[in-house]
Amino acid sequence: MSFDAVDVIRTKRDGGVLSAEQIDWAVDAYTRGAIAEEQMASLAMAILLRGMTRPEVARWTDAMIRSGERMDWSELSSPTTDKHSTGGVGDKITLPLAPLVAACGAAVPQLSGRGLGHTGGTLDKLESIPGWRASLSNEEMLEVLRTAGAVVCAAGTGLAPADRKLYALRDVTGTVESIPLIASSIMSKKIAEGTGALVLDVKVGSGAFMKNASDARELARTMVDLGTDHGVRTVALLTAMDTPLGRAVGNAVEVAESVEVLSGGGPADVVELAVALAREMLIGAGLTDAKDPAEALRDGSAMDAWRRMITAQGGDPDAALPIPRESHEVKAPETGFLSRLDAYGVGVAAWRLGAGRARKEDTVSYAAGVTLHAKPGDEVREGQPLLTLHADETDRFERALEALEGAYEIGGKPDPQPLIIDRIA
Ligand code: URA
Repeated sequence: MSFDAVDVIRTKRDGGVLSAEQIDWAVDAYTRGAIAEEQMASLAMAILLRGMTRPEVARWTDAMIRSGERMDWSELSSPTTDKHSTGGVGDKITLPLAPLVAACGAAVPQLSGRGLGHTGGTLDKLESIPGWRASLSNEEMLEVLRTAGAVVCAAGTGLAPADRKLYALRDVTGTVESIPLIASSIMSKKIAEGTGALVLDVKVGSGAFMKNASDARELARTMVDLGTDHGVRTVALLTAMDTPLGRAVGNAVEVAESVEVLSGGGPADVVELAVALAREMLIGAGLTDAKDPAEALRDGSAMDAWRRMITAQGGDPDAALPIPRESHEVKAPETGFLSRLDAYGVGVAAWRLGAGRARKEDTVSYAAGVTLHAKPGDEVREGQPLLTLHADETDRFERALEALEGAYEIGGKPDPQPLIIDRIA
């Protein structure tokens, strides 16, 4: 069935509901190049402004899944389970989490992304390990899953090509921040990836896409419903992203912190979230009698799985990580408690230091980033280092320091805030 693109745009512009046939046609025609970029931009803006009903989002997601291949892991003897985070500052959780869950008996086939803007990308972080390869064929993915139990790699061009094209368009047309478009974008890729279970880590706060809990809850609910309707056992945790996760923000520094967690140490918040998400992933996989993830961190089995996973993707887990050429300390201006350390400010600082990219084509510095010497609630003394900035060139510091202006406060002891805010099933 064929439609006129302008009629489809007008229907949504005027607050109408798109039919299943209109949606199938629009997504397919856009992927084939039969709808012009400006027409899809206009439709995306109409969706952003008018929203979508639950059946519309479900059909839009379905059409994006059908635009490409759907992966199949039925040859594996272990059940598959995965995690997706909506993105935050210092969010290195996938690095310890994937081998942790593999060590407890499930298979983790994770297709991941690169960073854009103030949030980092898992692939950029892992690429700071010498030799590690992000691009794998489907056969190589299967082989890594068989030998290591977990694989983290880039999505191939065959997976949800409609989303690949639409996401790039949304990025430059002010249409990213639409709950139906975000939910369908994330879930089309995760469902096409073929995982049996999925845990969503929906971040809330200054460093997240969703700045308030009610938007985050709506996004989580929409994604959980999409996953469940497609036969993927899906739950979401709403987690705080007002301050960076852990004490490292960047690429190599986040790998080093993940290795600390896998060695049984590391910052308490990273351990708490990794263990909570791992437990949810194992429940989703049906492995209710599995080894407890906290035990797999203590007994070294998660570290063994990490070493197998990195080696199977060409990396050397013992190689030295890139070290920064230059560093700059930010000191506490007075004595008191660190009452606030803003995730967005630190994320932008790390990005300006070179850890992130402004355009897809940019390269990242693996050594750049920020190390936190104090977390909110810690007592600090005047002149004590609060943060260390790392970069390859000293001229990066000025703009990074500008991003940190007003991003931290010393004052009274803040009330402790929960990291895990809610669970949506
Ligand atoms: N991540 C995605 O994959 N898609 C979105 O639309 C937003 C974040």
